[in-house]
Formats: sequence, structure tokens, C-alpha cells
Amino acid sequence: MTTVCEYRPGLEGIPAAQSSISYVDGLRGILEYRGINIEELAKHSSFLETTYLLIWGELPTKVELEEFETEIRYHRRIKYHIRDMMKCFPETGHPMDALQTSAAALGLFYSRRALDDPAYIRQAVVRLVAKIPTMVAAFHLMRRGNDPIQPNDNLDYAANFLYMLTERKPSDLAAHIFDVCLTLHAEHTMNASTFSAMVTASTLTDPYGVIASAVGTLAGPLHGGANEEVLFMLEEIGTIDNVRAYVDDCIEHKKKIMGFGHRVYKVKDPRATILQNLAMQLFEQMGHDEYYAMALELEKVVEERLGHKGIYANVDFYSGLVYRKLGIPTDLFTPLFAISRVAGWLAHWKEQLGENRIFRPTQIYTGRHDTVYIPIEKRL
Ligand code: SDX
Repeated sequence: MTTVCEYRPGLEGIPAAQSSISYVDGLRGILEYRGINIEELAKHSSFLETTYLLIWGELPTKVELEEFETEIRYHRRIKYHIRDMMKCFPETGHPMDALQTSAAALGLFYSRRALDDPAYIRQAVVRLVAKIPTMVAAFHLMRRGNDPIQPNDNLDYAANFLYMLTERKPSDLAAHIFDVCLTLHAEHTMNASTFSAMVTASTLTDPYGVIASAVGTLAGPLHGGANEEVLFMLEEIGTIDNVRAYVDDCIEHKKKIMGFGHRVYKVKDPRATILQNLAMQLFEQMGHDEYYAMALELEKVVEERLGHKGIYANVDFYSGLVYRKLGIPTDLFTPLFAISRVAGWLAHWKEQLGENRIFRPTQIYTGRHDTVYIPIEKRL
């Protein structure tokens, strides 16, 4: 008989798995992927190299990385069935809903579940990492009444996505900064969408359904959807002079300030620091506007008023500023998070396959017993 642990809302502090994929020290602001500091990976690695590291546990050799990159490049295209299905989606639909639906639809074409076959696992990883950016870009162009653009085999992963989205080749700086953003968002221990992926994976369903579950979870404004909400918040604040009054109003009405706070970090999220520097580079190169200054002022005031509660900027606070400067529409910010976090979700999916234990927690029952059934004609 297993002992019942004390109930913790949101499972706060309850270990749901054992994992060697990533590590966070929320008090010292440390994030490591397979033991490598996120600052090192942001400086020296690429998203695809980081994806390989997360999923197969070691940095790839030159040959292994080239093989992986070639496979991804080959599988970027999506079947016309998926494109035709997307044409029926309402153009007013949120891109995260389009992504969740089309990710699940991939399972219709590749659903053979050989979860004990390393070749099947690699195929699923390659197909999802390769095709999800194409699906996001295709939906975006089609909802504007344009035909989707085929992937450009001469461009690397990050540049190709920006090309498929904006219909023009990005600058080297834009492509590099976007690739670093993908690396920063790739993995983050037992966050809500990864946990959702693992619960789904524990039933031994196919990886496409696992990713569809995770996408649906990431979409919420308290999780991946916060980056989009940060931009709406800055638009609502309007000018740097309104920042302090906005923060005071949120505190007075216990309204969450988007892009701040974290279940684990009680200091500034190390990813926010890196993204802030990327935003500064972009604003310096492409021209300043009030948003960056407003963000700096907002971060200063929130730290002043809520720092004592361990509430600091998280990964979502500056990412939206970077994406906006890259010309990416606000409602695509969270799909970009999903494009990146597919790496972490798949790493946990693969790591857990050996567990063979379905997630089935218990509950504390607070309802009635021995309730009498009353026929409908006698109910008041
Ligand atoms: C991500 O888990 C991950 O790793 C997620 C992520 C990843 O990479 O996967 O890091 C990505 O999801 C980042 C978080 C993005 N979300 C937001 O920025 C939305 C705003 N943040 C909050 O909703 C909140 O901080 C959470 C959801 C992120 C964390 O919430 P917790 O740990 O459940 O904390 P809580 O809601 O219990 O708040 C504790 C206290 C409360 O005050 P008291 O009732 O104790 O007086 O802190 C306050 C909260 O009111 N608080 C905030 C706040 N966040 C917490 N007050 C104002 N603004 C905020 N943002």
C-alpha cells in the first residue's frame, strides 16, 4: 500500500519524475541542459545541436550533427493533406490551436507505434522538429490568404523559419538571435507542458499525441502564453510615465504582472538576462522605440515593489520584445515557444519510455457518501 503524501496545490515541490535532462537552481538563477550552463549554450551552440544534446544526452560529433541537420532539412516539408486541412481553419483561429490540431494530425500519417525501436524514435523526433516550424509558418500565410512557402534548403533552421514566415531572407543577426531564442526556450525541467507531455506519454500513445497535449498546455497565459500577454500589457501601459501606476494597480487588485514571477526562480530568470541583451542588440541595430525603455522601467519598479517576494522577470518578459523587433506577429510568440520546447518535450518522452509506468496520482475526496437518488419528478 503506497503512503499518501500531503496534498500540495499545483503539485508545488512534489517530484513527478527523475530526470537527467536539465537542472534549475531557482535561488541562484542557474539553468543547465545535460550539465552545460545555458549561458554557454546560448553563446556557442545552435538550436539543433542543443536539441541533439537534450534528446540523446551528449553533444553530437561534427558528423552526427551534420547527419541530424541533413535529416531535419529533408523532412521540413509537410504533406499536402495537412496544408489542405489548415486551409479549412478559420483565419481568426489562434495559431496555437492550429498547431495543436495539425501536430495531432501528423499522427494520422506516422502513427505506427514502435516505441521500442530506436529508428522509430529518431524518425518521430526528426519529423516533429522539422515539420512544426513549417506548419506554424504555413498557417500564418494561409490565414492571410497567401500560399504557404516551401522550405528553403539553402537556409539553416532558424533562418528558414523566418524566411517561410516573412517571405524574405532574414539578416544574419536576426537569424542568429532567433536561433539563440530557440535554444533558450528548449527545455526547463518539470514545467506544466512537459508534465502534460509526460502524463500523455505514460499511456504509451504515439509521440504526435504527446506533442499535441503539450502544445495545448503551453498555450495558457500563465505558461507559454505569457510572452504574448507581455506585449498586450506594454500596449496597455502606453508610456513609461504610466509604469509605476500600472504596477501599483496590479498590486492593489492582486493582478498578475505578465512576464514576472516563477514557481522555481526566486531571482531573475537567467534566460531573461540573455534575452534582454539580445533585445538591446536588436534595438541598437534596428532602432529604438519606447517599448524597450518601458520594459526596463517596468522591471525596475517590479523588482522594487515585489522583489522581496521573489518576483523577478522570467523568460517571457523580454522574448516578446525580441520577436516584435524581428517583425513576428504577437499571436505567433507562443507558437515560437512551442517550436523550441518540442526539443524538451521529446527528450522527456524518450527518457520516460523506459519507465513503463502510467501516471495515476490519487486525490483527497471532499464530497458526500450515501447520497439518496431522488427521482426527477420529486426534485424541487
Ligand atoms: C513560463 O514552470 C516553468 O518552468 C515555466 C517556464 C518554462 O520555461 O517552461 O519557465 C515558462 O511559464 C514562465 C512563466 C510565465 N508566466 C507568467 O509570466 C505569468 C505571470 N506569472 C504568474 O502567473 C506566476 O508567477 C506563475 C504562474 C509563473 C508562478 O505562479 P506560482 O508559483 O503558482 O505562484 P503564485 O501564483 O502562488 O504566487 C505566489 C505569490 C502570490 O502572492 P500572495 O497571494 O502570496 O500574496 O506571488 C504573487 C501572487 O499574487 N505573484 C505575482 C506574480 N506571480 C506571483 N504577483 C504579481 N505578478 C506576478 N506575475
